[in-house]
Amino acid sequence: MSNRISKQEFARRRRDLMAQMEPDSIAIVPSACEVKRNRDTEYPFRQDSDFFYLTGFPEPDAVLVLLPGRAHGEVVLFCRERDPTMELWNGYRAGPEGACERYGADDAFPISDIDDILPGLIEGRERVYYSMGRNAEFDRRVMQWVNTIRAKVRAGAHPPGEFLDLDHVLHDLRLFKSAGELRVMREAGEITARAHVRAMQACRPGLYEYQLEAELIHEFMRSGARTPAYNSIVGAGDNACILHYTENDAQIRDGDLVLIDAGCELDHYAADITRTFPANGRFSAEQRALYEVVLAAQLAAIEAVRPGNHWNQPHDVTVQVITQGLVDLGLLDGEVNELIETEAYRAFYMHRAGHWLGMDVHDVGDYKVGGVWRELEPGMVMTVEPGIYVSPHETSVARKWRGIGIRIEDDVAVTRTGCEILTGGVPKQPDEIERLMREAQKSA
Ligand code: GLY
Ligand code: MN
Ligand code: MN
Repeated sequence: MSNRISKQEFARRRRDLMAQMEPDSIAIVPSACEVKRNRDTEYPFRQDSDFFYLTGFPEPDAVLVLLPGRAHGEVVLFCRERDPTMELWNGYRAGPEGACERYGADDAFPISDIDDILPGLIEGRERVYYSMGRNAEFDRRVMQWVNTIRAKVRAGAHPPGEFLDLDHVLHDLRLFKSAGELRVMREAGEITARAHVRAMQACRPGLYEYQLEAELIHEFMRSGARTPAYNSIVGAGDNACILHYTENDAQIRDGDLVLIDAGCELDHYAADITRTFPANGRFSAEQRALYEVVLAAQLAAIEAVRPGNHWNQPHDVTVQVITQGLVDLGLLDGEVNELIETEAYRAFYMHRAGHWLGMDVHDVGDYKVGGVWRELEPGMVMTVEPGIYVSPHETSVARKWRGIGIRIEDDVAVTRTGCEILTGGVPKQPDEIERLMREAQKSA
């Protein structure tokens, strides 16, 4: 299986994690499980992000065990054995040999032997790193392995005395993207940008939302990104005001704005772009006025993404610009600071300006450290995605504003001097969007 992240990088991640583990400890990291979709068929398999980050191993039914300082090898992988019949029906398996040869395990065993072998590896270690509470069945098995050791204390066995949260250490590593990860995320951003351009070019009143979704998926797949990173949102007209709208089955009407929030997943890394554009290729006066406010907020927030600023500064900037814009256009009435204080803007802007981005679309990593907003540092990747949504039922504003939903979202990586926009390949200036759509309509 091809992977843009090198074998050396996976090894470095394991070393970095082990270097941060307390003395005398062991880490246990399970793979994802296959999930049934209907009789005899499963959902497309998606490896667990933590497990994949540390192994690059693409199969279900596997467990990674890290044993810092173990003389016979620190990296142990349990996985499915090779089996010609199963492979004939269901596809290739690496087997324990492949796990060592191709995935850098020092030692590998059949997953069917884990109950016999793992207690012996845990025994004598003081501390177990594990992400408790994510998978009840696996939690139970971990306790079973520990109890196997406890049952033998009178024979001199030494069970671990402490369970530690693996997430805390591992997710801080995942928060900072390496040069290799940034390369993949840049490519995911480029593919996704092309997909959004394609959807804008294809858009005509009368099409159904899912027909634009098809354009996105086509561009993702043909570029080697085989799946969206999350369910694509294609909302026309009032549907753009539903934040996580995924039905995508309505007909697009002349005069609608279309909001598309979609990103591909490339080698387990997500892109996450939102663009909003007029179905017929021309913004109405009200659509353009609100659009300009969201765009100004987004550009100002991106300016605020730089080392030394804290996580919440870009968000604060969007609140400031959007509240001022809503007052200027007459959707809110009052003094800007007071409207911010009382959170009156939340009637129209009810979500945060972004989130960490990585292997998970809402990626791991703490937003606060020691109770205060985290400082931005090079290597962190985040989205910047302000929006304005005027419900079709919002009676406090003139009718002409109702049913307009706008979000503009880009992915940015914090650099030493500011930030790099990973998703700049799709226009967001209203004139540029209109030009792109006009040219597509001409050449149709
Ligand atoms: N697409 C999910 C988000 O933008 O957060
Ligand atoms: Mn999004
Ligand atoms: Mn997002």
